[in-house]
Amino acid sequence: MPHCAYFSSTNLLNFYVKTIMQNKCLLAALATCFSVNVAAGTPAPAPAPAEPPVIVIKFSHVVAMDAPKGQAAERFKATAEKLTKGRVRVEVYPMSTLVKGDDELKALQANTVQMLAPSLATFGPIGVTDFEVFDLPYIFKNKESLYAVTEGPIGKSMLAKLDDKGIVGLAYWDNGFKVMTSNKPIRTPADFKGQKMRAQASKVIDAQFVALGATPVKMNFTDSYAGMKSGVIDGSENAPSNVYTQKMDLVQKNVTYTNHAYAGYAVVANKKFWDGLPPDIRAFLVTALRDATNYEKVIAGLDNDRSTDAMKKAGRTALYVPTAAEDAAFRKAMLPVQQQMEERVGKGLIDSINKAAR
Ligand code: SIN
Repeated sequence: MPHCAYFSSTNLLNFYVKTIMQNKCLLAALATCFSVNVAAGTPAPAPAPAEPPVIVIKFSHVVAMDAPKGQAAERFKATAEKLTKGRVRVEVYPMSTLVKGDDELKALQANTVQMLAPSLATFGPIGVTDFEVFDLPYIFKNKESLYAVTEGPIGKSMLAKLDDKGIVGLAYWDNGFKVMTSNKPIRTPADFKGQKMRAQASKVIDAQFVALGATPVKMNFTDSYAGMKSGVIDGSENAPSNVYTQKMDLVQKNVTYTNHAYAGYAVVANKKFWDGLPPDIRAFLVTALRDATNYEKVIAGLDNDRSTDAMKKAGRTALYVPTAAEDAAFRKAMLPVQQQMEERVGKGLIDSINKAAR
């Protein structure tokens, strides 16, 4: 029997449906072709150029927003966002809300944050021990001798040493000289004996407290208030603006204006991030940072004076300025730390700073 003899009515119906569907596909293809040809005659509106993505900079720091560093970070944010017309968004995270002091540089190297302004005492633990030279007691006589270093070739060459660590050093920010806080009145080096003093992760600061007969206790800055309240530490050293804005005067009975060592910062960025920025954006950020740096320099002095006045007015802690004889005794106790630390921070560097800062 011929093959077609097996075509049942159902098979025949399937055959017609298939044929109609094939023709429909053909028609659809023709229609597309036709519409393309029609469209080719009328130019379609050009698609809008894609907006470049917003560059987000996470800028983390450990101090209060109204401390000098906090205000300067806000100033940098405002200027950077204005100059870049919103192509950059700077997210400032104050008071260790994103990263604690001891973890800041690791977070920067991992690009979890893109910018920081850590205290100069923070760089030793990542292997750039030269920065601990800034922690040496009495290495700077005054602000002028400090600026001779930070704004001169020594300061620049120190920032360049961060390159190998995947960090670009951009500027120095200032926070003046440090005072000592304690529940015990501090008048002479002997008053430090047995005191547990909060210390940053700097071998120079450790050596300084040991030279005074105290016990250095390494602790993150934002844990200091709780440490003082609970008695884990008896005292600390810091800039007056940090003492006041962290409310340490509520938990410390005495503040002694020893001005024995410097409190300053290096503004740094993740090197890969910074170098990868479009050149025009990077230039705007440099301008914004220059502006914030000049601003910070002015407000640091004013804020430290204001904080002293505010603590005086609040009367919760006794402020004390050492006499000339007491100052001489503090110097005698702490100055040998410069020599002890020669090997760690470099004799050549100490000598050149002493010379530049004369
Ligand atoms: C600061 O960043 O000003 C505080 C540094 C510290 O005492 O840990």
